[in-house]
Amino acid sequence: MTAARPLLLVGGGKMGGALMAGWIGRGIPARDIVVVEPNPDIAATLSRDHGVTVAAGADDLAEDLSPELVMFAVKPQVMAQVAPPYRRFVGPDTVFLSIAAGTPISFFENCLGNAAAVVRAMPNTPAAVGRGVSVACGNARVTDAQQKLCHELLTAVGQVHWVADEDLLHAVTGLSGSGPAYVFHLVECLARAGREAGLPGDLADALARATVEGAGELLHRAAKDSPRVLRQNVTSPGGTTAAGLAVLMGGDPGKEDPAAGPLGDLVSACVAAAAKRSRELAG
Ligand SMILES: NC(=O)c1ccc[n+]([C@@H]2O[C@H](COP(=O)([O-])OP(=O)(O)OC[C@H]3O[C@@H](n4cnc5c(N)ncnc54)[C@H](OP(=O)(O)O)[C@@H]3O)[C@@H](O)[C@H]2O)c1
Repeated sequence: MTAARPLLLVGGGKMGGALMAGWIGRGIPARDIVVVEPNPDIAATLSRDHGVTVAAGADDLAEDLSPELVMFAVKPQVMAQVAPPYRRFVGPDTVFLSIAAGTPISFFENCLGNAAAVVRAMPNTPAAVGRGVSVACGNARVTDAQQKLCHELLTAVGQVHWVADEDLLHAVTGLSGSGPAYVFHLVECLARAGREAGLPGDLADALARATVEGAGELLHRAAKDSPRVLRQNVTSPGGTTAAGLAVLMGGDPGKEDPAAGPLGDLVSACVAAAAKRSRELAG
């Protein structure tokens, strides 16, 4: 991975720090990365552990800095105060990439000006361990080369997909953005069910957690197999798994749409509710 000019990261917290570590791990020299991070403890750690240049604020950046990309990785609540000073970098050779949840491209066009090339990406929390999935969308100013750069930089923390219609990011938020929490809740449900079935609490917790970890890793490694095939591989006709799945799937695991059933209906309602909330928050 290479960058012709410096990459400017605004916000070196959990997500920004994970991205930056991924860039360095993929060959971007630390000298080509500049971070704006006001938190002195985080700033000291980034500088010490990674050797990147860290500034406390936009005003502390070198006057002749000309970044190829400005990434905003601060909380959405502070974006209105954070973004405007970076207007000075707007030009055909600089792309702005935001990972702030729920902050639309139009927000950046308003505070940076319509000439700004803006990409908005929605990552999810497994990005912190390099196993996230992001969906990105850019405005008309973003060139193919800038889209490629954003793609490569986001790939440092997981898969990246692109959509042309920004409105789809509400559904993305409902599925992959909020999705890790649904899976963590499944672990809680499995553990509770284990206790109800007579297992000691500690053992039920450990089994529930290990089961989801292991199933996730199996899904990851068996990339060519669909979830349906993986499910069928562990389901003997008339066996124990079939008995359990019949409850979740409404009795007929062989039906044309196996996701339609009690659990499928619940998950559809769950994703729809999160997507609806994302729209409400966007105003
Ligand atoms: N964490 C996730 O899994 C996740 C998933 C999807 C999207 N996101 C998005 O990623 C963004 C960052 O989230 P996060 O979890 O990484 O938050 P975080 O850990 O709080 O990181 C944000 C960092 O920005 C710093 N900051 C505050 N004001 C600043 C300024 N004026 N200039 C530069 N840096 C400033 C904060 O410093 P202080 O500590 O001093 O405030 C903090 O270190 C959010 O917009 C969030 O919606 C995160």
